[in-house]
Amino acid sequence: MTVDQIGVLVVDDNDDDAVLIGHSLTRAGLPVRVTRAETADEVTAALTGRRVDVVICDYNLPGVRAEEVLVQVREHDADLPFVLVSGQVGEETAADLMRAGARDFVLKDRLTRLAPAVQRELHEAAERRRHRRLEEQLRQSERLDSLGQLAGGIAHDFNNILAVISGYATMLTEELGPGHALHADALAIEQAAARGSGLTRQLLIFSGLEPSRPELLDLNVVATDMQRVLSRTLGEDVELSTMLSLNLPRITIDRSKLEQVIMNAAMNARAALPSGGRVTITTEVVRENGHVCLAVTDTGHGMPPEVAARAFEPFFTTKGRGRGTGLGLATAYGVIVDAGGTISLDSHPGQGTTLRICLPPAEVAAPVSTLVRRPAAASGSILVVEDEDGVRDIVARILRRAGYEVHAAADPAEALRLVHDGLRMDALLTDIIMPGMSGTQLAAELRKIRPALPVLFMSGYTSGPAPGGQELPADAPLLHKPFQSENLLNAVHAVLP
Ligand SMILES: Nc1ncnc2c1ncn2[C@@H]1O[C@H](COP(=O)(O)OP(=O)(O)OP(=O)(O)O)[C@@H](O)[C@H]1O
Ligand SMILES: [Mg+2]
Repeated sequence: MTVDQIGVLVVDDNDDDAVLIGHSLTRAGLPVRVTRAETADEVTAALTGRRVDVVICDYNLPGVRAEEVLVQVREHDADLPFVLVSGQVGEETAADLMRAGARDFVLKDRLTRLAPAVQRELHEAAERRRHRRLEEQLRQSERLDSLGQLAGGIAHDFNNILAVISGYATMLTEELGPGHALHADALAIEQAAARGSGLTRQLLIFSGLEPSRPELLDLNVVATDMQRVLSRTLGEDVELSTMLSLNLPRITIDRSKLEQVIMNAAMNARAALPSGGRVTITTEVVRENGHVCLAVTDTGHGMPPEVAARAFEPFFTTKGRGRGTGLGLATAYGVIVDAGGTISLDSHPGQGTTLRICLPPAEVAAPVSTLVRRPAAASGSILVVEDEDGVRDIVARILRRAGYEVHAAADPAEALRLVHDGLRMDALLTDIIMPGMSGTQLAAELRKIRPALPVLFMSGYTSGPAPGGQELPADAPLLHKPFQSENLLNAVHAVLP
């Protein structure tokens, strides 16, 4: 059957009439494939068999009433066009049938009217289906919206809890040392907390609640920097190679989100390679539009077309409950499209998959972010302002252990009091959303006294525009909660003069 062929089910007891109906449609240029049915059973069989696009039903059937056929058709597909054909039928009956959902009515001695009626019905059914699909999409996006709000609402508290768990676990692990009987237990807590933060972060990025901080990046640098963590993710039996095109134009995107996209692709590749294989990261420039692309190719089991068609759908997963959230590619899609780029999949069952992201080249030249190296022992005095007791304590302990002198305040008012009483500090580390005054306002206040005061913000999430005075300056260094102690120390070191 060709795609364009129209599946017509003619319900008629008379062979000649059925042939005539088929002819009248063919003569009008409609490419039809006609199936005939006489009884209810035959109608059922026909509807569940090959595709039926329109049902043409005779009104005077000996074996089954047209009304019953109509009910049968509607139960099968509420949008399927149904055209009634009859030698003679009372006006009243016709009106009844139309009310019951038959959409058109043609007299047998006026069969030239049939083809236009069928065409109109097909067109209208297509419109109805399109409408339904749009409504479904709208409902789906509304569902996702409220899900995002829900995620954002709990993510803040959840992140604080995770920061505390992971901070203490790290400290426990280090304190106990590898020789201790409980070392493995502490390590397990640390890893579980890290998985938890990974998941929250994925949810926050997916729901668009994590603020974007686009920067100028070289895809080659990002790919190279990620090589170590990627090969750790892929494991020993997967060979990772990179094929980088030199001199790529730079792109603008939030670095940590881009890394998350690449990480998601790598984890999918890992899952598609249960007994090992190869993953290749390629960068290149598309000649036609100058877009810069990065592709992650695996030699894994690939996807059948019906999986590939749904792979970007949020919560679509073939990994089973508890093993995959189905947010990996949906998140990747959101991040890349947000940054003005495109993302596509190319997959062949049994051969492998390529996930390709393309981003427009950046227009303005801005400094490329560089990685800072942190010295072994730190020094300096830091004022930590955070209203969440657990987070404040663990942050203070991490900083003290690294060698910093730490002063802690539970809110901006206390911080201002400390400074007023003569506290000297080399940097301010502050939460953003706090009671009374925001972290950004506090920073502004302190900078009236110390204009060059280095400030590092920490934040669980910001959902859209923050309440008055809480917007972050574009270049403000920001640490997302929950963070590993490593990130905290790196960020603090980076803002210090
Ligand atoms: N490289 C790949 N090879 C084969 N199938 C893939 C690949 N990438 C994605 N898929 C298919 O697409 C589905 C959706 O991927 P996605 O990353 O969105 O979610 P997931 O991997 O199932 O869950 P999560 O990312 O939360 O672990 C996967 O379940 C898998 O069936
Ligand atoms: Mg995934």
